Amino acid sequence: METSTIPKIHDEAKDFMPINGTDYIELYVGNSKQAAHYYKTAFGFQSFAYAGLRTGLKDHESYVVIQDKIRLILTSPLKSGTEIGKHIDKHGDGVKVVALWVDDATYAYETAISKGATSYMAPKVEEDEHGKVVRAGIYTYGETVHIFVERKDYKGTFLPGFVKWETPDYNPAATGLKYVDHMVGNVGWDRMNHWVEFYEEVMGFVNILSFDDNDISTEYTALMSKVMSNGNGRIKFPINEPAEGKKKSQVEEYLDFYEGEGVQHIAVATDDIIKTVRDLRSRGVEFLRVPATYYDAVTDRVGKIDEDIAPLRELGILVDRDDEGYLLQIFTKPVEPRPTMFFEIIQRKGAQSFGKGNFKALFEAIEREQELRGTLH
Ligand code: FE2
Repeated sequence: METSTIPKIHDEAKDFMPINGTDYIELYVGNSKQAAHYYKTAFGFQSFAYAGLRTGLKDHESYVVIQDKIRLILTSPLKSGTEIGKHIDKHGDGVKVVALWVDDATYAYETAISKGATSYMAPKVEEDEHGKVVRAGIYTYGETVHIFVERKDYKGTFLPGFVKWETPDYNPAATGLKYVDHMVGNVGWDRMNHWVEFYEEVMGFVNILSFDDNDISTEYTALMSKVMSNGNGRIKFPINEPAEGKKKSQVEEYLDFYEGEGVQHIAVATDDIIKTVRDLRSRGVEFLRVPATYYDAVTDRVGKIDEDIAPLRELGILVDRDDEGYLLQIFTKPVEPRPTMFFEIIQRKGAQSFGKGNFKALFEAIEREQELRGTLH
């Protein structure tokens, strides 16, 4: 059950894996050039950095887009038979790397390995005229990896090997997205506790919230979730696993279509969700809708909030409250052809939880989408 208040994050002094924040998220996609354009046009990211044929790469090309603290790398292969291409063939477009900004990447890597992590990339120093960056990587669930990024000796745009990517003729305005609030992983049947232990033992995270299938179930489908946080609370990774229901749960559908475990959603924070969502909708981003009746009971459930209910109802924004305050949130539809990864837009007004009060309405909205896709059976 969700505790009434999130316990204070554990003693930072005892935190053996200090992490400053999310460094970047790398997605392997079929067409990185067009995906970059989509994130610019639809989500308001800006052109930021590039690596590919023009910088001497032979087998892949990456475009980096940025909005405030959020950096997305979009990477595609330039020929057949690459690891990137195989990843895309199996999973469709999806998140490959959740990169974590640390002060000492070698220490983070060696600590994680000594505690049982599987190596993805041994510490590697990359240099250019702007300084050096050290990166090292470990595997997490599925084929997803964490790369530790040490950039304290680097003054360049992004990373060595990348050049500034400028598009003076096209830079759509930002939509108010500020930083990554949390990233959720979907793991297989009975695998949630395995990955909870992984984050506890290998990365020093703590389990700050748990939801069982009584919290997260509808008439048809169910899931379980545990939220893992690092010491300073800047990194939060809820881990979902499917639970038995009458029909196929959204996590099962994800696992089927992604053909394995992977990142389910990226939650990004805004200071003005009404403005952000109105803007995103006008640019073509599609959101899940809850029934209008959701708003009939919302004031009774969450009490007084600063926002008028009318624009929340108009835009389909959800509200939830915990002991520390409230939050506003909304979920996009999947952003690739397979019903896999999507985005959450979240505005926190004190609340540090994840919107448990919205789960039922939300999952029923997802089930309606599954019904339309013919995958709810
Ligand atoms: Fe979320």
